[in-house]
Amino acid sequence: MGVMTTTHGTLHGKAALVTGGSRGIGAATAVRLAREGADVAVTYVDGKEAAADVVRRIEALGRRGVALRADSADAEEAAGAVPRTAEALGGLDVLVNNAGVGVLGPLDELSLAQVDRVLAVNVRGVFLASRAAAALMRDGGRIITIGSCMTQRVPGPGGTLYTTSKSALIGLTRALARELGPRGITAN
Ligand SMILES: NC(=O)c1ccc[n+]([C@@H]2O[C@H](COP(=O)([O-])OP(=O)(O)OC[C@H]3O[C@@H](n4cnc5c(N)ncnc54)[C@H](OP(=O)(O)O)[C@@H]3O)[C@@H](O)[C@H]2O)c1
Repeated sequence: MGVMTTTHGTLHGKAALVTGGSRGIGAATAVRLAREGADVAVTYVDGKEAAADVVRRIEALGRRGVALRADSADAEEAAGAVPRTAEALGGLDVLVNNAGVGVLGPLDELSLAQVDRVLAVNVRGVFLASRAAAALMRDGGRIITIGSCMTQRVPGPGGTLYTTSKSALIGLTRALARELGPRGITAN
């Protein structure tokens, strides 16, 4: 089945934030949300031009697009992207926690800095963005967090750090769903 090309889809009038939306899965998600009718903000760190290109693709679909430089490894920036989005787009209905770093390697070759960075981006940043979203999200909102199949099956060695971080997101998502469910906000 082909991708829908309507510019008045099911998300018309909704505002979304996709972390790490300058390329890869995040960029594709941002454009798809816009195709479904949402206005979309994306965060990036290094890919300023790439993020601007994603914004142009969102705008070409007739939606508002915003690129925000916000490093998920930084606590203030991770949380701050959420109110910045709400201010730019007039609210927030959808948060996609996509930004992630995949540092793979043998246990004894991983530096403490690498451990801290992976946990900061993949776990703490997601927690802080989700909390900020919960504080201002409209009822009926959606929080979607990108995990990894490595939390189910690990195909080889070198994935302990990454899998640790992504496994935390399973618990975060389940507990978030319990906490925000009464407001009609889902977490997946
Ligand atoms: N690709 C896979 O096979 C795969 C499989 C399972 C799960 N995932 C997960 O899916 C998500 C996206 O993966 P991907 O392969 O599309 O990644 P990618 O191509 O490496 O793109 C990563 C995106 O996240 C941004 N980013 C990286 N570090 C960031 C930070 N500290 N703060 C804010 N943004 C940051 C990057 O922005 P810049 O432009 O600044 O670099 C870029 O937009 C990740 O959570 C990843 O773990 C991927």
